[in-house]
Amino acid sequence: MLLSYDYDVITGRNDNIPKKLDKSFTNNTQPSSWEPSSWTEFPIEQDPLYPDKCALDYFQTRLRNHPPLVLASEIRSFKKTLAAVTEGKAFILQGGDCAESFDSCKSTIIRDLIYTFNQMSGLINQSTKLPIIKVGRIAGQYAKPRSNSFEIKDGIELPSYRGEIINGLDFSEKSRTPDPQRMLNAYHYSSATLNLIRAINTSESPEHQYKLNIKVYPGSTEQPHYISFLEALYKTVNYLSNKENVTKPIYISHEALLLPYEEAMTRKDSSDNKWYNCSAHMVWVGERTRDINQAHIEYLRGIENPIGIKCGPKMTGDTLIKLISKLNPSQEAGKIILIVRMGVDAIKEKLPLLLEAVKYHGSPVIWMVDPMHGNTKSAENGYKTRYFSDIYNEVTQFLTILKASHIHPGGLHLEMTGQDVTECTGGLQEIQGNDISYKYQTLCDPRLNRMQSLELAYLFGKNWQ
Ligand code: PEP
Ligand code: CO
Repeated sequence: MLLSYDYDVITGRNDNIPKKLDKSFTNNTQPSSWEPSSWTEFPIEQDPLYPDKCALDYFQTRLRNHPPLVLASEIRSFKKTLAAVTEGKAFILQGGDCAESFDSCKSTIIRDLIYTFNQMSGLINQSTKLPIIKVGRIAGQYAKPRSNSFEIKDGIELPSYRGEIINGLDFSEKSRTPDPQRMLNAYHYSSATLNLIRAINTSESPEHQYKLNIKVYPGSTEQPHYISFLEALYKTVNYLSNKENVTKPIYISHEALLLPYEEAMTRKDSSDNKWYNCSAHMVWVGERTRDINQAHIEYLRGIENPIGIKCGPKMTGDTLIKLISKLNPSQEAGKIILIVRMGVDAIKEKLPLLLEAVKYHGSPVIWMVDPMHGNTKSAENGYKTRYFSDIYNEVTQFLTILKASHIHPGGLHLEMTGQDVTECTGGLQEIQGNDISYKYQTLCDPRLNRMQSLELAYLFGKNWQ
């Protein structure tokens, strides 16, 4: 299958932008009083409905007494690093599992993700020449929003699986009942994962990484970019042998979905008296929980961490600038990351409207693309899958649209793994629909495998110029 390098140039459009945008709320820099638990007074989506509230209180208290996973000072310096992206001087590579599992908290899996990340950074850097900021969907990405609260199998109805931090995947009443003790388990698995990430970053020599990393990838020689992809991959040796590149921190991030956990991990820093979510450097709000009048936005408006906002095809310019104003009233650079996940069919029509609205509003933001969540399909065998060609096409459209508007494409957000799984179809390995059951290991959405992730990074770089 040949991937197309041709696309339309998008002209600036502004038809859906409110003609008189009310900027007055941007001056509202004094949020009413806030505490980590203020969200409990608001309506909430995706609430797991814990049956035992005393147990929930107990485990929240236990968590509050655990040390932070990341420090407020790290969050502050991360935000400064991100401010460079706002100015077009750096690029973010964010990726990892759709849903981490406790079982996959293993050294090989974590290492392979880091190595893949480093190689992808090398590939993207070859074209962009920009410093790459690495952000894992890792060490806490355990909670999943679900479209349906219940799942029916053989006539039995049980709560849907909501991620390891909430309930179990097994289809039994015991496993599917939300259990707050899992929050504590998630904390410990996050801590073990983060410990290994920090150890690899600070102690492993680039030579060692490179030796383990470089493999020959079987791919279709029928695809014209296979050879140049391999050449680019070998060229990453220069990038990877530079200790400075390989030892750059990998920041951790997850969706701030399970608010009892996020609340318990929120700490006031004594140096500035501000609140930080110390379970991750960055958190994001998902497409299903970003209602401005509801609990998740109430929680997020009080913390200092950089915040991602998922922007699906239903997001309007008006809603988006209200969210930005509420979450970043002081217009701090490096605070807001807009994660565009429109889908390959919608991005061309919808994204220019958001770009215009945000430009008009004037608050500094980072634009990145998540080409995964708008492109999920059902394969013939019933598995959820994504086509590499859709993912690639959404990425290239994102680049074209932003460039036409003279806005810096700030990053890529991917569901990916360093393992050789078969969850998304296509790519140089030409994975077909009927191949995907072979190594389908995701707990939730299909991820790019190692080869597909590298190929996407390479193609992204090719389209950067
Ligand atoms: C996700 O990133 O895991 C996710 C569920 O995305 P979205 O909210 O964009 O659907
Ligand atoms: Co997902």
